[in-house]
Amino acid sequence: MDIVREIKAVGHGLQGEIQIPGDKSISHRSVMFAGLADQPVHITNFLPSADCLSTAACMEKLGASVQRLNDTELVVTGHGLHGLQEPAGILDAGNSGTTLRLMMGMLAPQPFMSVFTGDASLSRRPMGRVIKPLELMGGQLVGRGGNRFLPITVLPAKKRLQGIRYESPVASAQVKSAVLLAGLFSEGRTTVVEPYTSRDHTERMLAGFGIPVEREGTSVSVLPAERFAAPEEIRVPGDISSAAYWLVAASIIEGSELLLKNVGINPTRTGILDVLQAMGADITCRQERESGGEKTADLLVRSAKLHGTSFGAEIMPRLIDEIPAIAVAAMFAEGDTVITGAGELRVKETDRLQAITDQFNKLADCIEGQADGLVIHGGKKELRKAQCFSYDDHRIAMSLAVAGAAGAGVSIERADCVNISYPSFYETLGDLAK
Ligand code: S3P
Repeated sequence: MDIVREIKAVGHGLQGEIQIPGDKSISHRSVMFAGLADQPVHITNFLPSADCLSTAACMEKLGASVQRLNDTELVVTGHGLHGLQEPAGILDAGNSGTTLRLMMGMLAPQPFMSVFTGDASLSRRPMGRVIKPLELMGGQLVGRGGNRFLPITVLPAKKRLQGIRYESPVASAQVKSAVLLAGLFSEGRTTVVEPYTSRDHTERMLAGFGIPVEREGTSVSVLPAERFAAPEEIRVPGDISSAAYWLVAASIIEGSELLLKNVGINPTRTGILDVLQAMGADITCRQERESGGEKTADLLVRSAKLHGTSFGAEIMPRLIDEIPAIAVAAMFAEGDTVITGAGELRVKETDRLQAITDQFNKLADCIEGQADGLVIHGGKKELRKAQCFSYDDHRIAMSLAVAGAAGAGVSIERADCVNISYPSFYETLGDLAK
C-alpha cells in the first residue's frame, strides 16, 4: 500500500510518558528459542510488529505452536532442541534480516530441507556473510547470485556439522547468532570472533535457557547442547531503537520533557545515549532494574542545546540502527557532526547513507554523503517542508517524521513501513503533538 502521511510541525514542547514497545531483537530470539525448548514459554511485552510476526509464522511452520494471548503476550510450545519439523511450505522472512539469518543458522544442521523467501528489500541484502561460515561447518545452502541472495534453500545436512572458530570480518549480531545457533547442533566447540562486540542478546538468552556461553574479549563460544531448559517467562524489555526517536525529538524540540518507560539499556545497545550525551543532551536513567538477563530503565529526556560530535567504527555496533535518528539530531545541533565507519548502513533495509543524504537534504541542504559515513553541517533551526520517500525503510520513515515534527512538517511517501518495528509510532507522535 502506498500511503503518503502528513506530519505537521509540532510547534510546542513534547510532554508526557511513553511506554516503549518490546525490543525487536529480543522478541525474535524469544520466539525462536522458546520454539526449541521442551516446555511452554510465556513471553510478555512481545513486539507485535511485522518482522517479529514473520519469525513467529516461520516457527509455526517448523512445528512450534504459537498461541497469542493478546497483542503482546504469547505462549510458545516447541518439541525440544531436536524437535524441529520439516516445513511443508516456504518460510517467508518478509523484511526481516534477523529472521532469515538466525534461522539459516538454526536450520543448516537439520536433517530436512527448508526454503526461504522474503520481500524485495531482503532479496537485495547480502546473505553470503552467513552462508560462508555455515558452509565451513559443513552446511549446504544454495542461494541466487553465487549464493548470496534470496531465495535460499537450506539442504538437509548429510552429517553432523563441525564446530569452527570463525573470525567474522563484520561486527554483526546476526552473523554471530547464526553461527552460534548452528554450533549448538555441531560437533566440538564453536567460536565466533568479531572486530567489535555486537549486541549480545543471543548470548544472554542462551544463558537463560541453560546453555553455557563462554565469552572472552570479542569472542564467544558454545559447545553442542542436549536441551533448552525453558524459563517460565521471558519479559521483553522496551526497544532502545524505538526510544531513539523520542530521545531525539525531545532533545531538539524546545520545552520538551518526556519519560520513556521500560527501555532496554543493554550496554551493547546504548551507543545512542553516549552520542546524544556527548552532543549535550539532557538524559537521565531512572529506576534501573534487571529482567531475564537484560537491564532496563526509565529514561527522562529534556530538550537541550545540542552541538556536533564525531564518532566511528568502534561505537558503530552499539548504535547501528540509530544513525538515521542521530542524523536528525545532528541537523539541529550547532556545528558539524562527522560519522565514519558506517559502511554497514549501505546493506540495511535500504542503503541508509544514501537515503539520509537524498531525503533529509530535501528538508535542509546540510548533509554530505561519504563512502562509509556522513558529514552533517548542523545549526538548521528552520527546516523547509518537503515530500520525502521512505524507501520502505521503517527507520528512515520514523526519522523523517521526527525531523518534520521538529521542523516545518513533512509528507512521507510509503510511510506505513513503520509497522516493521513500531506499529504504534504515528499514534504516539499524534498524541504528543496534541
Ligand atoms: C540485529 C542485528 C543488527 C541490527 C538489526 C537487528 C539482531 O544487524 O541492525 O536491526 O537482532 O541481531 P547486523 O547483525 O547485521 O548488524
